[in-house]
Amino acid sequence: MELDITIEKLSSDGRGIARYNGVVVFVDKVCPQDRVRVNIFKQNKSYWLGELIEILDKSPHRVKPFCPMHNVCGGCNLQHIDYDYQLQCKKEIVKDAMGMVDGLSEQVEDVVPSPQIKEYRHKIQYPIRQTQVSKRILAGYFKPKSHDIVNIKYCPIQPAICDEIIDFIRETAPMYNIEGYDEKNHKGLLRHVVIRSSAKTGENLVVLVINSNKPNEKIKDFALKLYDRFDKVIGVGVNINTQKTNLIMTDKTISLYGKDYIEEDICNITFKIGANTFFQVNPKSAENIFRYVKNYIKTNFETPTILDAYAGISAFGLVMSDVAKKVVSVEEVKPSVDLAKEVAGVNRIKNLELYCEDSEKFFLDVIENGQKFDITILDPPRKGCTEKTLEYALKLTKSKIIYVSCNPSTLARDLKYLTEQGAKVESIKPFDMFCHTNHIENVAIINLLNR
Ligand SMILES: C[S@@+](CC[C@H](N)C(=O)[O-])C[C@H]1O[C@@H](n2cnc3c(N)ncnc32)[C@H](O)[C@@H]1O
Repeated sequence: MELDITIEKLSSDGRGIARYNGVVVFVDKVCPQDRVRVNIFKQNKSYWLGELIEILDKSPHRVKPFCPMHNVCGGCNLQHIDYDYQLQCKKEIVKDAMGMVDGLSEQVEDVVPSPQIKEYRHKIQYPIRQTQVSKRILAGYFKPKSHDIVNIKYCPIQPAICDEIIDFIRETAPMYNIEGYDEKNHKGLLRHVVIRSSAKTGENLVVLVINSNKPNEKIKDFALKLYDRFDKVIGVGVNINTQKTNLIMTDKTISLYGKDYIEEDICNITFKIGANTFFQVNPKSAENIFRYVKNYIKTNFETPTILDAYAGISAFGLVMSDVAKKVVSVEEVKPSVDLAKEVAGVNRIKNLELYCEDSEKFFLDVIENGQKFDITILDPPRKGCTEKTLEYALKLTKSKIIYVSCNPSTLARDLKYLTEQGAKVESIKPFDMFCHTNHIENVAIINLLNR
C-alpha cells in the first residue's frame, strides 16, 4: 500500500514518525516536516512500517550529507538534517522519553552542541572481512540492519589519520597472508581493528582483534610493519577473541609494540586511555560535561564528599577532586582503575580513593559501614542502574544524585523510580556527544533534600 504522509518528528532510534488515521507510521531516512510517499511493508496492531518511495515536499531542514557514503553506511543516520535542527530533534527525543513521569519533560533543557561536528569521533571500531573471489580485505561499518560491510575509505566524522591506518591495513594484510574474518564459518584471523585516537596529541593506539588464542608470527610482523609505518601510531596490540559473538573485544589485550595507552587532556588533567578502558568517543563534548558538573558542584557545595560510581578511568573523580573534601570512585574493570591510580599518583591527588568492584555491592558495603556522601555521581552503561543500586544510592547520599546517561529511556525509567521514592529532578541537560546520530547524552541533577 502506498501513502502520502507528513513526518512529524523523530523516534528515539532516529526514524521519522508520521500518523495516518491514528496509526503511527515509522519511516527511515526522512526529516521532520518532509511530505513523503511511502510503501507500507509491514502492518502491526499499533504501528506500521513504511519505506520511502519519494520526497514530495522537502523539509526546510534537509541538507546534503557531507559524507559520500551516507546513503549506504549505517553510521550516521541524521546527516541529512541540518545540525541545529538535529539538536532540536534530539531535545524532543529526550522529552518524549521523559514523558513517562509527570512534569519531567518540562525539565529538559536545550542540547549543548558538540564543539566539533566533523572528526569528533576518537574511538573507531571497524569489522574486517574478505571478498570470496578476489580475497580483497574489506573494512568499514555495517550497512543498516545487516552484517554486510560498507568498505569505507573516507569517514569525515573521525580523524583523517584513521582512514590512512585502515587503508594501510586493507592493502598490506594480504601481503602477510592475513585473512579477514568469515562470520558464517568462524574462520579467518583478523576480526576487527580498533583505534583509540587522542584529540590532544593526534597519537593513536591500534588494536587488531584476532580469532586466535595467541598472536602468531605473521600478525606480529604485520603489527610491527604498521607500528613502523606511522609516527602517530604509538602502540599496536592484539585482542584475543575466538568466541562466536558480536562482542567486538574481550578483556584479553596483549601489547606488541610501543605504548598500551594514549593520553587525553580533560579539564587540565592528562588521562591515560587504554584498549580496554571506557572513555567517551567525543573528548571535547565530554569535557563540556565534566565542566558543567564541576561548575554545579562548585556553585552549590563547599568541599563536599563525592561518590563516583561506574567511574571508568575516574574521569569525574579526578576532575572533581580539587573541589571536594574526598572522592571515592568505583569501577568494575581493573585496567581502568589501574590507569586512574597512575594518573592520581602523577598529579599527586591525595583525596581520591579508587576501588575495583561492582557498584551495587560497593554501595551495600558503604551503607553497612554507616558511611554517607553529599553527592553521588551515577554514570552507568546503556542498560542503566539496577533498582537495588538506586535504592542504595538514595540511602547513602545526603544531598544530590548526578545521573549521567547515554540512554534516555533507561534514564527515564530510573528517574521514575527515584521520584517515586520522593526525590525531585532539578534539571535534565542533554549534551551532543554523537553528532549526526540519534544518540544523546544527558546529565540529570536530582535533589534528595526534604524527602
Ligand atoms: C558509561 S561508562 C562511564 C565511565 C566514566 N564515568 C567516564 O565518564 O568516562 C560506564 C562504566 O561503568 C563500568 N561498569 C559497568 N557496570 C558496572 C558495575 N556493575 N559496577 C561498576 N562499574 C561498572 C563500565 O566498565 C564503564 O567503565
